[in-house]
Amino acid sequence: MSETAQLKIGDKTYDLPVIEGTENEKALDISKLRDLTGYITLDIGYKNTGATKSAITFLDGEQGILKYRGYPIEQLAEKSTFIEVAYLLIYGKLPTTEQLDKFQFEINRHTLVHEDMKKFFDGFPSKSHPMGQLSSLIGALAAFNPESLEPGLSAEIVDLEIHKLIAKMSTIVSWIYKKSLGHPVNYPKNKFDYVTNFMYMTFSQPTEQYEINPVVISAMNKLLILHADHEQNCSASTVRIVGSSDANLYASISAGISALWGPLHGGANQAVIEMLEQIKEDGGDTDKWINKAKDKNDPFRLMGFGHRVYKNFDPRAKIIKKACDDILENLGVQDEVLEIAKRLEEVALKDPYFVERKLYPNVDFYSGIIYRALGFPTDMFTVLFALGRLPGWIAQWKEMKENKEPIGRPRQIYTGATDLDYNDISSR
Ligand code: SDX
Repeated sequence: MSETAQLKIGDKTYDLPVIEGTENEKALDISKLRDLTGYITLDIGYKNTGATKSAITFLDGEQGILKYRGYPIEQLAEKSTFIEVAYLLIYGKLPTTEQLDKFQFEINRHTLVHEDMKKFFDGFPSKSHPMGQLSSLIGALAAFNPESLEPGLSAEIVDLEIHKLIAKMSTIVSWIYKKSLGHPVNYPKNKFDYVTNFMYMTFSQPTEQYEINPVVISAMNKLLILHADHEQNCSASTVRIVGSSDANLYASISAGISALWGPLHGGANQAVIEMLEQIKEDGGDTDKWINKAKDKNDPFRLMGFGHRVYKNFDPRAKIIKKACDDILENLGVQDEVLEIAKRLEEVALKDPYFVERKLYPNVDFYSGIIYRALGFPTDMFTVLFALGRLPGWIAQWKEMKENKEPIGRPRQIYTGATDLDYNDISSR
């Protein structure tokens, strides 16, 4: 007999089915609540509300656990590659050698971007934010792939669009970077694997031979893996709800990119470095800035700290923090702000304000330090987050489609004016 919960309203008692997930999470199924009781629930920001059932990513905010399709993030970050993790998230299983080779081959076949897309690039002001460019350019891909607009797409067409999107986003991200420098773009070389191809397109110059540094490629794989999915975060939920209207995959991903741009979400990795630089310029007085973050009258927040779900260490932050020291040492890079970040973390983790609110470093706190060591400018950090998150967004969109979920349409409680009659402007 499955578990039920009782809801008492007035003199009536209603049974609500309880749903239990494979990691023992429990939910009240309120899908019939309004029909049964006339009531809806209200949960602004959805802190207590599940929007779907998903088999892609599991995270436990209290324990600081993150798993993709059941595999711990620590093992994937250590042993896998980004393209293998992309396959795992999207298709639900670790690929065989043959499946992985075919996946990489299909992606490589689509790394070229239609030359007419350059007209869009040329239209952007050279210093316009890369995230605004990326969301526009990814949405524009639908114009070059009309087959993606057909309703009821076949599995073959869905796979084709997935390959195209993963392939072309990498090329587009590198072109956005090159354009910001006024440098010529590079075309993909399909002899390279996905991450090497991306780093080649991004950093090679026509004036010299591009040297592949295995430490850099390994670090980039790790960073992209750590960003690949995170269940129903703001941008993944955006992708799902846009896709639920039968909007095409490019439009859904473009919407996810826009959601990620916000400094409270993916934009935090850029905001962290800007904050650390500000503290450095201000003399490095971490206590002063911790106090500002605690001051209710001061809008300043400690960027890279806190999380909607993690009320313990973000496991990704732990992995990135460890990788920071290794990578900076390997590359012979000294970065003053790393020491400021470590001091901030040390002080915050002892301060009652942060301890009581369970505010720990999140994925964005250290990632920017590595991106900078790899040669990326600060305003490219969130674009790199998007490149990493792409397989997760695709997996979420695909699962929503395969589960034939209805169009997302939340209800509300109306609190506005009532029963007014129109009056002519002359009498207002
Ligand atoms: C990502 O959801 C995901 O999975 C996202 C993500 C992913 O992989 O997709 O993990 C990626 O978005 C990571 C988060 C990146 N954002 C930042 O680092 C921005 C700084 N963090 C905060 O803005 C905040 O912590 C949020 C937005 C991340 C979470 O906000 P919540 O859960 O809504 O928390 P809250 O705003 O209700 O804050 C609770 C209390 C408040 O104080 P009180 O009103 O209780 O006195 O904690 C305080 C807040 O003022 N607080 C902070 C703080 N974060 C929360 N105070 C100072 N500095 C901070 N960073």
